[in-house]
Amino acid sequence: SKPWTVPALAEAKRDGRKLVMLTAYDAGFARAFDANGVDLILVGDSLGMVVQGQDSTLPVTTDDMVYHTTIVARGLSRALLVSDLSFQADATPERALDAATRLLQAGAEMVKIEGAGHKLDVIRYLVEREIPVCSHLGLTPQSVLRFGGYKVQGRGEAGERLRAEARAVAEAGASMLVLECVPSPLAAQITAELSIPTIGIGAGPGCDGQVLVLHDFLGLDSGHRRPKFVKDFLAEGGSVAGAVRAYAAAVRDGSFPDAEHAYAS
Ligand code: KIV
Ligand code: NA
Repeated sequence: SKPWTVPALAEAKRDGRKLVMLTAYDAGFARAFDANGVDLILVGDSLGMVVQGQDSTLPVTTDDMVYHTTIVARGLSRALLVSDLSFQADATPERALDAATRLLQAGAEMVKIEGAGHKLDVIRYLVEREIPVCSHLGLTPQSVLRFGGYKVQGRGEAGERLRAEARAVAEAGASMLVLECVPSPLAAQITAELSIPTIGIGAGPGCDGQVLVLHDFLGLDSGHRRPKFVKDFLAEGGSVAGAVRAYAAAVRDGSFPDAEHAYAS
């Protein structure tokens, strides 16, 4: 049976084993990541930007997510597959159930939902219907219009609100929490407070695991921002397989992210 299952995630956290996650959008990269020690694969709606060349994730549809989930799933034999619910696919519990069902039928094993607030009802609704949920807080790219850009979240007093949201999504039944672009001390505090694993991207070394976007991880210029937390592991690893092994080793021994690839406050 597959080594990576939903219950295995909480066990890894209890054992203090770091989780290694990358995004993938097709079977070829999925296979390379799966074969070289990646624990979790995310079919991110970042595909709108890095695959489709759009300015944000907002144009991505459930059909897009189902297509990429289908082809990524064919490349996996050990990693757990997480897929994003695209913009407004999770606007209501009923819509979310339809989209998430399609993603699970395409091979996803968990769906990711940005935000708390009214999404807490959506999380509960899916979890009660046997659909594992990963939450995503901090810099939630589907909130880009409200944020006015891709900016670090949870600084100063906003940190307390983010802590409360993290507790709320865990109570609603989320099995995992992605924290994007938040100060490292806040991410470490949230990680200590929750029994579900946290996965950081621009959230410092204190999370239970790390995720990077494939194109950033290989040093490809997406034509967009190049955030400070990004590291080109292809330069270090020399090949795609070498890059994956270098990244996995650095996440597991805690050397990535270092201070240079995180927000101190
Ligand atoms: O879409 C995506 O790739 C993501 C990660 C950045 C966490 O949501
Ligand atoms: Na996403």
